[in-house]
Amino acid sequence: MVLERDARGTSEVRNVTPHKLAILLSGRGSNFVAIHEAIRRGDLEAEICCVVSNVPEAAGLARARDFGLTALSLPSRGIERTEYDRLLLGALRPCAPDLVCLAGFMRVLSPVFLAEYRNRVLNIHPALLPSFPGLHAQRQALDYGVKVTGCTVHLVDEGVDTGPILLQRAVPVLEGDTEESLSGRILEQEHDLYWRAIALVLGRMDRGRGEGRGARA
Ligand code: GRF
Repeated sequence: MVLERDARGTSEVRNVTPHKLAILLSGRGSNFVAIHEAIRRGDLEAEICCVVSNVPEAAGLARARDFGLTALSLPSRGIERTEYDRLLLGALRPCAPDLVCLAGFMRVLSPVFLAEYRNRVLNIHPALLPSFPGLHAQRQALDYGVKVTGCTVHLVDEGVDTGPILLQRAVPVLEGDTEESLSGRILEQEHDLYWRAIALVLGRMDRGRGEGRGARA
């Protein structure tokens, strides 16, 4: 149920089922928490249907449990990539997510997974792609000596950080920056960027279906 107000303050109740997001993570999960917050604030019209981690002890999974969300541990150690992705597809199927949001998920998804969620998997990367893909993007930026880096939300394809770019935010590299200080400033921007990119994709999906929802900001 969504309460809308027009310019005269007249309210209208629409019976809309929110879009469902599945979150995949492997670690602390601050991007997941930021998405959860955006939904709670009412900035992002969606619901998190499940949070899955390939690392059972991931802090993000514990946060998901604290929030009362469906939180699944699906350990990946020792499991071949395609086989794992089939397990992952099976775990997601009951919740039928509209989008799958990678939030520090430290695995490359296989073609088997992407075939089922073509153009519906998003990732956030701590650099201005196509610069500095892969691991330790902030360190790569410092080592290269760039003066501006940032973060990117993109659709996931079969490559590593190669999919179509949705949104980017620039972050200046400051004199004396360490990997930690730079990562912290980029992370702040990630938290404000990811939910906006999700809203953008949901809005596009709705327009494709002739509806109009996704973001309130
Ligand atoms: C973020 O820097 C994100 O860009 C990258 O992995 C990190 C995840 O951080 N893909 P968190 O687990 O969301 O705090």
